[in-house]
Amino acid sequence: MLAITAARIDKDTPSAGLEVGDRPDPAPGEGWTTVHVRAAALNHHDIWSLRGVGLSQEQLPMVLGSDAAGVDEEGREVIVHSVIGDPNAGVDESYDPKRSLLSEVHNGTLAEKVAVPQRNLVPKPPELSFEEAACLPTAWLTAYRMLFERAGLQPGEALLVQGAGGGVNSALIRMASAAGYRVYVTGRSETKREGAKRLGAYAAFSPGERLPERVSVVFDTVGEATWAHSLRCLRPGGRIVTCGATSGQAPPAELNRVFFLQLSVLGSTMGSRAQLQQLAEYCARSGVRPEIDRVLPLAHAKEGFAAMEQGELFGKVVFTV
Ligand SMILES: NC(=O)c1ccc[n+]([C@@H]2O[C@H](COP(=O)([O-])OP(=O)(O)OC[C@H]3O[C@@H](n4cnc5c(N)ncnc54)[C@H](OP(=O)(O)O)[C@@H]3O)[C@@H](O)[C@H]2O)c1
Repeated sequence: MLAITAARIDKDTPSAGLEVGDRPDPAPGEGWTTVHVRAAALNHHDIWSLRGVGLSQEQLPMVLGSDAAGVDEEGREVIVHSVIGDPNAGVDESYDPKRSLLSEVHNGTLAEKVAVPQRNLVPKPPELSFEEAACLPTAWLTAYRMLFERAGLQPGEALLVQGAGGGVNSALIRMASAAGYRVYVTGRSETKREGAKRLGAYAAFSPGERLPERVSVVFDTVGEATWAHSLRCLRPGGRIVTCGATSGQAPPAELNRVFFLQLSVLGSTMGSRAQLQQLAEYCARSGVRPEIDRVLPLAHAKEGFAAMEQGELFGKVVFTV
């Protein structure tokens, strides 16, 4: 089958380790099944994998990708939940300390077929296209948990999203605006700031710019480049919700600001299978849809990786099979 594989680790030029080519079909073990992938989405996670974060040279070659929508062996249209955990660890596999995402231990979704545990499939609502559904399992699920479970926002409150066009950020902007929050955004270019407003943002600013008011919650996936600004934008008692550190993970903690203003820092990772199903139903009913920057045939995946590496994207890259 055609697959996009991490063949080498390259910390500086991650896409140099990418290979597009033939790989053996998956051989699912007991309790696992094969999904025929119709669409798969790219995440920054795939860039980290190529840099050797969460993936070592000894594990290669590894098929990349943690997002897919497709058709299962019974012909049902399904979305793949990417968190592989111990089935006995409890209802929410994302809290299993031994969990992995597809492409970390088991081959991932950027392929014609992917093997997954049977229980990791959720129904694809007919209202969503395969391309839209493929955006949900990682970026959108992570944003859903950050916004609706972790942030503790009251209806109508103000929030800031650091970054405009990323997968998680565009999902946060779209869902938070649809939910009626006053959504401020920082974006690295005028085009991205305009894009954020098109997604529903109340106002968009350059990175580091002073906001017209202090917000209750900042969503920060960027890390070092934005952390100091995130702390300064919060009202006393405010919260930062973080799921990533794209620009680096060791900004000054500024503990004096954290305790004096009684701020909270909340980590968040992925979401449960039940939340993925809720998210799919929420999209189907609300009309909220993922922003898609481009759809490419799987064989042209390198173009999508290059655009993400260069920070050019506004929304998700989706590969079709
Ligand atoms: N813990 C989890 O479960 C989880 C799940 C999903 C993602 N993540 C992590 O969250 C991060 C974002 O993932 P993604 O897939 O949404 O990535 P992405 O699509 O590549 O988006 C990157 C975002 O970061 C913003 N950004 C702002 N300043 C930046 C800087 N100096 N360097 C790089 N980016 C900067 C970009 O802003 P502009 O739009 O203004 O360019 C863009 O919105 C990644 O680190 C990823 O590993 C974690």
